[in-house]
Amino acid sequence: MAAIKSTIPSRRFDAVIIGAGGSGMRASLQLAEAGLNVAVLSKVFPTRSHTVAAQGGIGASLGNMSEDGWYWHMFDTVKGGDYLSDQDAVEFMCREAPKVVYELEHFGMPFDRNPDGTIYQRPFGGHTANFGEKPVQRACAAADRTGHAMLHTLYQRNVRAKTHFFVEWMAIDLVRDAEGDIIGVVALEMETGEVMMFEAKTTILATGGAGRIWAASTNAFINTGDGMGMAARAGIPLEDMEFWQFHPTGVAGAGVLITEGVRGEGGILINSQGERFMERYAPTLKDLAPRDFVSRSMDQEIKEGRGCGPNKDHVLLDLRHIGADTIQKRLPSILEIGHKFANVDATKEPIPVVPTIHYQMGGIPTNIHGQVVAPKNGNPNAIVNGLYAIGECACVSVHGANRLGTNSLLDLLVFGRAAGNHVVASDLKSRSNKPLPADASDYAMSRLSHLEHSTGSERVQDVANDIRATMQYYCGVFRTDELMSTGVTKIMELDERRKHVSFKDKSKVFNTARVEALELDNLIETAKATMVSAVARKESRGAHAHRDFEKRDDENFMKHTLWYSEGNRLDYKPVITKPLTVETFKPKARTF
Ligand code: FUM
Repeated sequence: MAAIKSTIPSRRFDAVIIGAGGSGMRASLQLAEAGLNVAVLSKVFPTRSHTVAAQGGIGASLGNMSEDGWYWHMFDTVKGGDYLSDQDAVEFMCREAPKVVYELEHFGMPFDRNPDGTIYQRPFGGHTANFGEKPVQRACAAADRTGHAMLHTLYQRNVRAKTHFFVEWMAIDLVRDAEGDIIGVVALEMETGEVMMFEAKTTILATGGAGRIWAASTNAFINTGDGMGMAARAGIPLEDMEFWQFHPTGVAGAGVLITEGVRGEGGILINSQGERFMERYAPTLKDLAPRDFVSRSMDQEIKEGRGCGPNKDHVLLDLRHIGADTIQKRLPSILEIGHKFANVDATKEPIPVVPTIHYQMGGIPTNIHGQVVAPKNGNPNAIVNGLYAIGECACVSVHGANRLGTNSLLDLLVFGRAAGNHVVASDLKSRSNKPLPADASDYAMSRLSHLEHSTGSERVQDVANDIRATMQYYCGVFRTDELMSTGVTKIMELDERRKHVSFKDKSKVFNTARVEALELDNLIETAKATMVSAVARKESRGAHAHRDFEKRDDENFMKHTLWYSEGNRLDYKPVITKPLTVETFKPKARTF
């Protein structure tokens, strides 16, 4: 490890964006093309951001395959989210969807095509025509590498627009002035240990999710909840963190994602008796019911003894009948993943799969412009000046209690662009950067200094692994009061252990240790937020399946949770049930 420098240099920008995934690069493009001086910080090379792993598609009601409309898309999103979504935001997203997809097409995104040249769209979970009547093909796909194609397209456009990329830089903490405004961020160059102040008139958090608080996850190792950790330490609450999506088809034992697009192309789930069991649970949508529904059905099959393999601990995803030609054309990565991670030839054998953590519906609370909102002086929706959050680290909230497949890439594009437009409209060029307080870097530097000098006996990876094991066991697909209460105690114990992490045994310390220790601080904030929010929600809604409270309770829990790191306390705020221009979708029983 390189030593930390005692003084810290500073650079000034109009805007600093933390994270170079789909939302960060969509926002930076808007800003750079408007002539603003934009820095994008990323722990990895931009095209290796976690968006690269998105496979199946972008949801947009283009209607290229059969009739479709944004209002049907909106209905599916609200119902899929078990009525916890803010309907103003959902309307905004679904109406904007065709526009952001066509924009991407004009940027050069290599979508799959229909014979008539239009963008190919495939069926996906919970996507229906005419308010749930029948499946519709809405997912705009580039084979099963849609996120990969999207990141490369956005990166190239950003290079052209002269966005400044700071690659392998990790943001440590936000800088807040006496008025509570965010005026920049302190960041660490991972290779050299150099620390720098990035002064900014606007800071945008686009750091992705925290899927690495779980042991079995489809998420990249970089997904450590850095944006949420920074926000929580700056006094900003985290919203709806109890809602985590299990993707039905992670490769058993490996966690690698097998896209829902496989079932969109005709793949089916079967149990040890060879039965297509989703026909029993969801007679209309079958294998293409929303993810929370399919994951719970799979778990039920396994619990009732119809799991496959020697330990009866997974089910099978069968795509043999789709045919080798279609698989090679539409799902080439799945063939490769099948070979590499499950040792099967998916054209000839089914793939063993289990529900695997995939996506957080909650995050940093924002409005539809991406501005961060946090209660202040009696105003529940007060804006945090100078701070935006977009993408998976944000909670707008469009996904409610369970996200529809393909709405994540859509969310990145719609709200990345919306935040960019809002910043451009705020006329940053005519304003100067706010002055830095003398102690601006003290907090971040004291965290680094604590790490350097700690003589504790804990190792970063031991604590991180124990967090993952605890979350997985005590806050899984099905939850109980007893499990979650124990989980809270265990996570708080891990928070204590985290404070005693040290690098004193140099023989066991790698050069990535400082970054991993900083990430650990973010993992624990997200894990605490999840566990504490989860135990307090005494109902079952979307991805939060509570064995002691099996029903949704709209009377008491139609509300968003807010968790504050300081005092480890909870608050709540109402769901926005009024859309922008149309009628509210009223809560109904969710059957598929
Ligand atoms: O299944 C998938 O391809 C994942 C898509 C998504 O999470 O939206």
